[in-house]
Amino acid sequence: MKFLQLSVLPFLIVTLSLNGATLAHPYGDFLHCLSLRISNSSTISKVIYTQNNPSYSSVLNASIHNARFSTPTTPKPYAIITPRKTSHVQSTIYCSKNHGFQLRIRSGGHDVEGVSYVAQVPFVILDLVNFRDVKVDTKNEVAWVQSGATTGELYYGIASKTQTLGFPAGICHTIGIGGHLSGGGFGVLGRKYGLAVDHVIDAKLVDANGRVLRRKSMGEDLFWAIRGGGGNTFGVVLAWKVKLVPVPPVVTVFTVNKNLEQNATKIFHRWQYIAHKLPKDLFTTVWVMKVNSSQVGKKTVQAGFRGMFLGGVDELIPLIQHEFPELGLAKENCTQMSWVQSILYFGGLPIQPVDILLNRHALPVSSVKEKTDFVREPMSETGIEGFMNMFLEEEADFAITMIEAFGGRMDEIRENELPYPHRAGILFESTYIVQWTNEADAGTYINWIRRLYSYMASYASKSPREAYYNYKDLDLGTNNIIGYTSYEQASVWGLKYFKNNFKRLVQIKTKVDPMNFFRNEQSIPPL
Ligand code: FDA
Repeated sequence: MKFLQLSVLPFLIVTLSLNGATLAHPYGDFLHCLSLRISNSSTISKVIYTQNNPSYSSVLNASIHNARFSTPTTPKPYAIITPRKTSHVQSTIYCSKNHGFQLRIRSGGHDVEGVSYVAQVPFVILDLVNFRDVKVDTKNEVAWVQSGATTGELYYGIASKTQTLGFPAGICHTIGIGGHLSGGGFGVLGRKYGLAVDHVIDAKLVDANGRVLRRKSMGEDLFWAIRGGGGNTFGVVLAWKVKLVPVPPVVTVFTVNKNLEQNATKIFHRWQYIAHKLPKDLFTTVWVMKVNSSQVGKKTVQAGFRGMFLGGVDELIPLIQHEFPELGLAKENCTQMSWVQSILYFGGLPIQPVDILLNRHALPVSSVKEKTDFVREPMSETGIEGFMNMFLEEEADFAITMIEAFGGRMDEIRENELPYPHRAGILFESTYIVQWTNEADAGTYINWIRRLYSYMASYASKSPREAYYNYKDLDLGTNNIIGYTSYEQASVWGLKYFKNNFKRLVQIKTKVDPMNFFRNEQSIPPL
């Protein structure tokens, strides 16, 4: 299906061509509708950014974290709406619905496939950049966090009040709470406490009818679905109430790098048998990438074994020496710090000052394609060797695979407790990432990661080959851009992300949004 945008002018009928047919799109009507509802002209100028607005591009680009979807040919939204009040969100839903625009909700803009800011049909972005409040209540060990805040803003908010509470969400501090909690949220506290969504105890949602709902008024089915069943599907989540978790004032982080010449393959092989059984207080991850070899001009592949222990170094060293002596962990590989500093350590940032957590642009933006696997059986040494060797290929110059140990608390939560099903029996989750700088070469790099993914098919989980929704991969299948998508069609990707929970998600979607107003390429379709 081909869609071509011919002209874009505010307050005019826009002419479009869809599959060769010329259509008139009431763009002006949409803006008129929204302006009337917001009514105050100074507010309108702070909330609605049309393509004629000089700030349009900077507002659009401010939360684009994948340069692949920021090219001159990338379809652009007709308008970006940055609500300041709940009523602005309700009005945007009302006007988009009545004037035929698809709505793309954006919180942190880290969607790997860019679906929060790109669509192949006329669309507007609802950008929650002004919904960023974080209210931490240390007495009751809870926080209310608005969706547009980043994990970093939440972590900072907690750490500026206490050193003994934390929140078990993702490693990267620039990801948005809205998208992150809509898909699960796994990080360094995951083995100890499970996912971010396992700690959501209330939420504020605006549904397709503009109703503002809380846990009690939305009911347990919908409340179950929004905790990981996918963003842009059940409504706009404005804020989440989360339960905080205890952390010690001092944690220990470490990195031990081993390359192919230093037995990386054998040590990684051993790690698979151990990492998921280690005490819950110890999280480990392996980062695989190409590096310079000690021989001048030569490359090798490095497995970086990294970890975070909820305790001091003197307790960690004997523990690792006993459980995983092959790693050869020494005191000089370890650093003691606060939990919040460990977020910066894993992000590859200086651990001081911690207010860099408030910087939404602290990480460089490149073009990226990602894929994920969950592994339930240890790989053979030959299998690992083949995997590592793929990183010696030219296309893997800027590739990395992040392999995170599961087990611990993740093993104790039932698969259907929440939509995210990848729990008991998972040894580790792998996120394959390939990056490039020149868009003209995109195909070569994407082809490489697809080959890597094919190679891993024999080692990954099967029937279905499970995938993590938070790293969306449109290669797995998509909905129809417009019109109806059958259950069978969506099951192709839906079962991989949600396993048996997919059916319940479809039933809930059918009940709460039967007209499929909230939709994207991989949103849950109604029956
Ligand atoms: P974005 O705003 O792009 O939204 C993502 C999806 O959610 C879109 O479909 C969007 O429409 C929808 N959505 C957003 N806000 C919504 C709202 N308020 N209501 C309803 N729908 C909404 N994951 C992980 O578990 N652990 C990790 O450590 C990391 N680390 C990481 C690092 C980097 C660099 C990237 C790019 C990604 C990750 N992730 C991750 C994956 C991350 O959790 C995932 O991309 C999230 O969807 C990002 O949320 P944002 O709000 O930033 O994205």
